[in-house]
Amino acid sequence: MPIPFIEPFRIKVVEKLKVTTHEERAVALASAHNNLFAVPAEDVFVDLLTDSGTGAMSDAQWAGIMRGDESYAGARSYAHFESAVQEVTGFPYVLPTHQGRGAEGMLFQTLVKAGQIVPNNRHFDTTQANLLVLGANPVDLTVPEGDDPQADLPFKGNMDLERLEDLIRRVGAERIPIGMITITNNSAAGQPVSMDNLRQTSEIYHRYGIPFFIDACRFAENAWFIKLRDPRYRDVPVTKIVKEIFSYADGCTMSAKKDAIVNIGGFIAFRDPALKQRIAERLIVHEGFITYGGLAGRDLEALAVGLFEGVDEDYLAYRESHTRYLGQVLSEAGLPVYQPTGGHAVYVNAGLALPQIPAAQFPGVALANALYLEGGVRTVEIGSLMFSRPDPESGEMIYAPMELVRFAIPRRVYTRSHLEYVGECAAEMMKHIDAIKGLRVTRAPQVLRHFTAELEQI
Ligand code: F0G
Repeated sequence: MPIPFIEPFRIKVVEKLKVTTHEERAVALASAHNNLFAVPAEDVFVDLLTDSGTGAMSDAQWAGIMRGDESYAGARSYAHFESAVQEVTGFPYVLPTHQGRGAEGMLFQTLVKAGQIVPNNRHFDTTQANLLVLGANPVDLTVPEGDDPQADLPFKGNMDLERLEDLIRRVGAERIPIGMITITNNSAAGQPVSMDNLRQTSEIYHRYGIPFFIDACRFAENAWFIKLRDPRYRDVPVTKIVKEIFSYADGCTMSAKKDAIVNIGGFIAFRDPALKQRIAERLIVHEGFITYGGLAGRDLEALAVGLFEGVDEDYLAYRESHTRYLGQVLSEAGLPVYQPTGGHAVYVNAGLALPQIPAAQFPGVALANALYLEGGVRTVEIGSLMFSRPDPESGEMIYAPMELVRFAIPRRVYTRSHLEYVGECAAEMMKHIDAIKGLRVTRAPQVLRHFTAELEQI
């Protein structure tokens, strides 16, 4: 009998979870000013806030931690890291960074000036913020079906190629110092991008002389979806699919906290040695010397091992089916689940679940908070608290395209029974869904407000 897609690992170390009462959770949420980012993790039972840096490392990675070479310059662990990145991505040059946003910051600060435009299928929050603080304008061009939670299509994370070319013609290629694509498309419900779309996006950018970089956090999950959903790739090994993906780009930014299954780390990889040199100079000022970039030697070692574990096909088969299972469980509980489920997370359409709450009162936050109160499950809003901002030209408020709640699944951490428990909490919450109220912001910073905003119930 073939082994089903259950956890292809067993548990060697466990971490105790604290069981809380409804009253304790109500106190925790009130003290957090209704912002789940401010709730102590101890008061969370199943933490689906993010899949970033929350994965469980393998025995091989922990062994790597012990072997880490902490030399300031030219550490052996750097050499391991460099060759792993070269082997997996095919890019010849790499710079380590402390995490994904460090990579974005170094790349954008080197290439992008105020008033310039950076297209992407959809920028994630930190990518958008790294451009906004430079006075640049991040433009999102996901295909329209990406914002349709019902359309059961294979590659809803794709770039809208027509709108991309139209934008470049309209504003002029000289105003676009770099073009991006994000795989998988985290802010569009973790949907994958097809190989054809990656190639065509690359062709368009290159036709206009624009360097093309991939925001590659979840490249392995994206490659797995290409294998599952594009019949031409059914028999192609994931490692080869990954190489083809990167072959279309001039480089990538990577948060290794996702598909390289480490708790901290990132990198920028390149084809152009001159660009690497320019960014290296900035890196030394901000992140650290070019052979550690803000990481310890042991972090580089764990990353080098994790990159290969992240592209293991047994692991990816489990990962996809585990996430899909949570989607089923939540659908059965009666929540409107974005279809199909993504690689790293299940997204619930809070706008539809809570029609009584308008976007300006954050239905996603309301739903996430209700679920936390119900059973200590922490999720995150990916909606208008995270993404609404005034239009740079008209000043009018642009709300997020969808009001979603993301149930992100840490890698190799929770079992199916944890996911079943999340479904039970959701079913309980559904019994009083009509009574859930919207929120208003009482205090928030200008940039990345969702992390530290304080809110009150209306
Ligand atoms: N790009 C994407 C698509 C991301 O999802 C993230 C992080 C980053 C860049 C930044 O990487 O956190 O290492 O600095 N996303 C996390 C999330 C935080 O919860 O989705 P980082």
